[in-house]
Amino acid sequence: MATAAGCWLTDVHGRSHFDATAGSGAVNLGHAHPAVIAACERQLRRTLHLGWNIAIDIREDFARSLVAFSPIAEGQALFCVTGAEAIEAALKIAHAATGRHWSAAFESGFHGKTAGALSVTWREGFRRYSALRDTGTLFAALADEDSAAAALDALETSIAARARESGPPAAIVVEPVQCAEGVFVAGSAFLKGLRRLADRIQAVLIFDEIYTGFGRTGRCFVAGDETCLPDLLVVGKALGNGIPVSAVLGSRDIMSVLPPGAHSSTFAAHPMACAAGRAVLKTMADTQPWHSAARLGAVLRHRLAGISRASGRIGAPRGSGLMLAFECCDADGQPDPAAALSFLAEARAARLVLRGGGRSGATIKLTPPLTMDDGECAFLADTIATIADRLQDRHA
Ligand SMILES: Cc1ncc(COP(=O)(O)O)c(C=O)c1O
Repeated sequence: MATAAGCWLTDVHGRSHFDATAGSGAVNLGHAHPAVIAACERQLRRTLHLGWNIAIDIREDFARSLVAFSPIAEGQALFCVTGAEAIEAALKIAHAATGRHWSAAFESGFHGKTAGALSVTWREGFRRYSALRDTGTLFAALADEDSAAAALDALETSIAARARESGPPAAIVVEPVQCAEGVFVAGSAFLKGLRRLADRIQAVLIFDEIYTGFGRTGRCFVAGDETCLPDLLVVGKALGNGIPVSAVLGSRDIMSVLPPGAHSSTFAAHPMACAAGRAVLKTMADTQPWHSAARLGAVLRHRLAGISRASGRIGAPRGSGLMLAFECCDADGQPDPAAALSFLAEARAARLVLRGGGRSGATIKLTPPLTMDDGECAFLADTIATIADRLQDRHA
């Protein structure tokens, strides 16, 4: 590709491609958002780089704005560069706060590809190359609304069994909606149950909202009144709308367990990233794109459900807001990775950029920019319908 703007990428031949991935979920406000670019340009003329240990006005301003924007009242932010780094920092805080050294995480969970983040990431194929192979993480089943009670009982039993040998866990780490392995939504009763469990065993509850944060699921964050508040909220991706910046948010009490410098990196809270993040927060506060994500997510899901009913090869859609997925299926309705590869090849030919894979290997994931308009949403659904027809004909 050569350039990008809004929902569209332009390749070196001048052809347009619709980006239904929003740059791995990092550009919720669309590619090349003018407010973000202007803020970066302004900041670059003021300071290009100073280092995390030198105070700078834009960082103070961004930290204040981020805390005010987040559901963590009176909190504090620790800035990092990538999502994985912020997960590492959150785990350090949990270990420091509890003096404990293992965590509970979830099947199909994904938290990044550095060693610490991999230690709570479910897929063995990713953990295989990690410097930390045996971290003792307990992987439990994530539950939707219907199965919350049974899953919480099972989790508590497994934690108690592990605690008899290793003591209680430092943290329970959860994505409120898992994306990487195929979009699985945790029910709000389940999340509330995790809050109660974490309180009972005095473990740190960490919400990884690196993907779900900043409107993706049709809410600004999943953490909040309708679910519960975690002890630590980890954000990244859309925070910089394409400029690398991530953060751990928590109360002043818990954030103060790590002494200054216990977690830092050279480019953390880079002036340009702070300027970008500040512009993102202002634009988000002004435009509240989560409302559009909720509305267009419902429209797209309705269209996908129709495509699924009409096609023998597309499973029912699932997800929340503009984080949606469906399976490509064989003639018996079972997930079919070969059909997903055909789907992705057809999508490339139709100039639609999608992510596939997931736990079944047959999932197609949709995370377009939240700034997509009605026409673009219709274009996306129409293109998927055409591909589904072709797939059905090919496999008939
Ligand atoms: C939920 C979640 N956590 C953590 C990460 C890791 O973020 P990064 O790729 O910025 O390290 C990702 C990346 O996709 C993610 O989806």
